[in-house]
Amino acid sequence: MSDLKISGLHKYYGALHVVKGIDLDIPAGEFTVLVGQSGCGKSTLLRTIAGLEVADKGAIEIGGQRVNDLAPRDRDIAMVFQNYALYPYMTVFDNIAFGLRARKTPKSEIGPKVAAAAKMLGIDHLLERFPRQLSGGQLQRVAIGRAVVRNARLYLFDEPLSNLDAQLRDEMRGEIKRLHQELGKTMIYVTHDQIEAMTMADRIVLLREGVIEQQGAPLDLYERPATRYVAGFLGSPSMNFIPAGVVANGAAISVRLGDGTSLPVPAERAVGLGTWQGKPLMLGVRPEHIGPAGRDQRPGLAPVQAVVDLVQPTGSRSYATFQLGGVAAVAELQAHDVSRPGERLELSIDMNRTVLIDAATEKVISS
Ligand SMILES: Nc1ncnc2c1ncn2[C@@H]1O[C@H](COP(=O)(O)OP(=O)(O)O)[C@@H](O)[C@H]1O
Ligand SMILES: [Mg+2]
Repeated sequence: MSDLKISGLHKYYGALHVVKGIDLDIPAGEFTVLVGQSGCGKSTLLRTIAGLEVADKGAIEIGGQRVNDLAPRDRDIAMVFQNYALYPYMTVFDNIAFGLRARKTPKSEIGPKVAAAAKMLGIDHLLERFPRQLSGGQLQRVAIGRAVVRNARLYLFDEPLSNLDAQLRDEMRGEIKRLHQELGKTMIYVTHDQIEAMTMADRIVLLREGVIEQQGAPLDLYERPATRYVAGFLGSPSMNFIPAGVVANGAAISVRLGDGTSLPVPAERAVGLGTWQGKPLMLGVRPEHIGPAGRDQRPGLAPVQAVVDLVQPTGSRSYATFQLGGVAAVAELQAHDVSRPGERLELSIDMNRTVLIDAATEKVISS
């Protein structure tokens, strides 16, 4: 059964149309990540699910029950906010216990429940402290503890890690994912960070300007994006987009770039592409699908000449920028495959992994 079902949901702030017709069905136990650029309506959608905002149109069902007219506290949800929202004059214990007390949990159950949640999050030695005596990471754990101590049907997280520094964020990502595995609860996690979405989600729901652009398992979206927007949003460095067309020579199809470079398309991926001759397209190539020519003998690798104009080492890999078909493109190479600007490289593009996009509609026509 689905734990959350949203149908035809709209939300306005005055004249500003923020949520523009969302349909979403989230099965029990799933970890769903709502991801999208800042301002696309993620928090508004989450707050509307929680009942902190009123839906203007559409239905929200939690556990099969319509909750549009229920107060937040009656919706069987627990929420973690970006700014923690802890009570400064209460100890960690009292902060975590707050929701239990508000729901009239028997006193004898509160102590053990708080202790169990605190232990799971590694904050059991901090229960007597006040929020001002805690680090950012500890505060975030308390905020999560306050949510998971309650036995709710749905757990909502609104960018809970964005106030933490990079290393702690990586660590907490893993902890929240482990927490999900241990509790097996339905969780909806909002972030603008595509890496967070890729690493944490069972399912990604990618929002764009108040509508769902695409949803699916992380690798589905990564490998089979439906639009240029999705292709460019997921992945770092971003996918390269190069103006292109297709040329058919009998059954053989190749992609032709602006500077005349011709890239043969493997036969099994060429089906149906002939009809796109003469139409403006974009070739989408991920940086990791450009590598040194000759190292690999698989079919479908198309050679290109590159003059490197920028090298960005990361340690394990180096990003090399070069001109491809008249635009700047980035290749993700092994650190020692490239050394300096001006270097000439023989590269190859893995044409088994590229996408072709209709430049007019920005929809992917072949991936
Ligand atoms: N309480 C509010 N009143 C008016 N406009 C709001 C309010 N909250 C958010 N907005 C606007 O709604 C849009 C979506 O905001 P939000 O849901 O916070 O986006 P996100 O969480 O994806 O960054 C933004 O344009 C924002 O300025
Ligand atoms: Mg937000």
